[in-house]
Amino acid sequence: MARNAGEPLHLAVARPHPVIIPVASGKGGVGKSFLTANLAIALAEMGHPTIAVDLDLGGSNLHTFLGLANRHPGVGDFIHGAAPALEELLVDAGVPNLRFLPGDGRTPFLANLGSAQKQKLIRHLRSLPAEYILLDLGAGTAFNTLDFFACAPTGILVTTPELPSVMGMQVFLKNHLLRRIDRQLSVNGFKPLRPLFKALLQQPMERLPATLNGLKARMMEQDAAAGQAFAGAFEGIRPRVLFNMGSGPEESRMALGIRESLAEVLGVEPDFFGFVFHDSGVRRALAARKPFLTGFRENMAARNILKIAERIVRFWRNPIPDSATLMIKHVLQFPESNAPKSRL
Ligand SMILES: Nc1ncnc2c1ncn2[C@@H]1O[C@H](COP(=O)(O)OP(=O)(O)OP(=O)(O)O)[C@@H](O)[C@H]1O
Ligand SMILES: [Mg+2]
Repeated sequence: MARNAGEPLHLAVARPHPVIIPVASGKGGVGKSFLTANLAIALAEMGHPTIAVDLDLGGSNLHTFLGLANRHPGVGDFIHGAAPALEELLVDAGVPNLRFLPGDGRTPFLANLGSAQKQKLIRHLRSLPAEYILLDLGAGTAFNTLDFFACAPTGILVTTPELPSVMGMQVFLKNHLLRRIDRQLSVNGFKPLRPLFKALLQQPMERLPATLNGLKARMMEQDAAAGQAFAGAFEGIRPRVLFNMGSGPEESRMALGIRESLAEVLGVEPDFFGFVFHDSGVRRALAARKPFLTGFRENMAARNILKIAERIVRFWRNPIPDSATLMIKHVLQFPESNAPKSRL
């Protein structure tokens, strides 16, 4: 990862860069905060210094999934200038190797950050002392969320196995890619292409290209340099998909259709990192104000999460060939989940 302008040189060379893992979704309520908290616990338990950051500004609740009280200053105070460094705001999360950076629980109205504030925050996040930094994001495609997601080379996309949630994930990814293309077009050399890009996106629905490859082809008709800008925007894109709240192992087969659709519509290949079953222990853990992984370790969803953490440590920096098939094979070994069965 490149050093950022303005970042003191000693920070860039003194510590290895942490792996930053933003966790996003198209639809809300799919389990981003639950998974962020419990994956962070799992990584910390494996001996990796980890920080869980609540970046759902306007809807911070990561503390509840960590079993912590909402009484600490956090990102909101940093943005308002009440805390000079993020590092000072880290809270011991009660698990060895795990610290928590609270969100904006005590400082409302931060859902719309200015660009300079956002860049400063991202710069400081990158220099936090940890091996893994997990970012719990808000749902949807607000610029804040897209920019936090883009602060790392790749991130996690959470979806349930329901169609609206899967569609939401695809819309999120499309917006992420469009923002990356727009950023490429803001770079010297490509700037003359930007008005064309904007004009193409503002066409009536029926004239819009159906795929990002179609959009690229239309731009290349006008200027062949568009091909290079698109290549730059797509370089290294490899989103990691997590299914949550699954009700049966056969639902994991959705990964095959998703892989096909993302390749065709967006020209992107995802890695499927895991499948977590719906688990009644999640609600009970919240009621007991305990992290799920601590209180319900033997449950199916806890075992699913531990497996995902293991995959993060082994594969985060490398693509997993045919991850959809591998994940399906793994999930099909499980007996039916402990979710309530439908009477339909
Ligand atoms: N695997 C699961 N089994 C059972 N309940 C779950 C599971 N995952 C999440 N939940 C529950 O679903 C609800 C939504 O989860 P969570 O708050 O983590 O979603 P989110 O994506 O962060 O939502 P938001 O977009 O509002 O931030 C919570 O009540 C949580 O306890
Ligand atoms: Mg959340």
